[in-house]
Amino acid sequence: MLWGDLKPVVSVKELMKYMIDPMADNIFNAVGSTVTQQGIVDVEPKTEEDWDKIRIGAVSLAEGASLLKIRRPFTPPGDENNSTGPDAVELSPAQITAKVERDPVEWNARIAALSNVALEALDVVKRKDVNELWDVGENLDKACEACHRSYWYPGEGAEFYQKLRRRLEQFHEQSPRGNTSAKPQKQ
Ligand code: HEC
Repeated sequence: MLWGDLKPVVSVKELMKYMIDPMADNIFNAVGSTVTQQGIVDVEPKTEEDWDKIRIGAVSLAEGASLLKIRRPFTPPGDENNSTGPDAVELSPAQITAKVERDPVEWNARIAALSNVALEALDVVKRKDVNELWDVGENLDKACEACHRSYWYPGEGAEFYQKLRRRLEQFHEQSPRGNTSAKPQKQ
């Protein structure tokens, strides 16, 4: 199936930070609202360039997800995550590795879930369906979070999520459109 050897360059953590996460932003940030001097303005793809940016995110995620199948360290050398001390909520790289080795089927299913959402995004780009773009963003968020909750911070139990939800609700009550990612933009 392969034409040559596959050699990992970076850890999973770096792959997330420098590739998966920024590419996902091309999809997450494609719709929403933003605060300008004119008030709150809807953000949605209008030009070919806007749609291409989403396509770049989707292709990168659809293909990039497979890179998670190459065995690689979970963190750069010496990085133990937030896995020690009283407030530790993250698994150590050794714990994550052990979990994947115990059940590679789950790991692969989480990867498949990510690339499936990316394919959904590609389809939406093809049809230029702005409404469905909102759903894609939500599905993408779910695919990321499901894997993180299972492998990265299972220590953050129900209580943590209740607190987080309460905080978000308060935030939504304060902001007129409830957009957590609204960034003030100068125009
Ligand atoms: C198949 C599982 C999986 C999927 C799917 C996944 N992640 Fe991750 N991600 C991880 C793991 C595991 C870590 C923690 C690595 C570590 O620090 O040991 C992580 C860490 C991260 C980090 C932290 C990087 C840092 O510098 O601390 C970010 C940001 C991130 N992921 C973003 C995303 C986004 C955005 C998506 C969805 C588009 C996503 N991830 C999908 C497994 C996944």
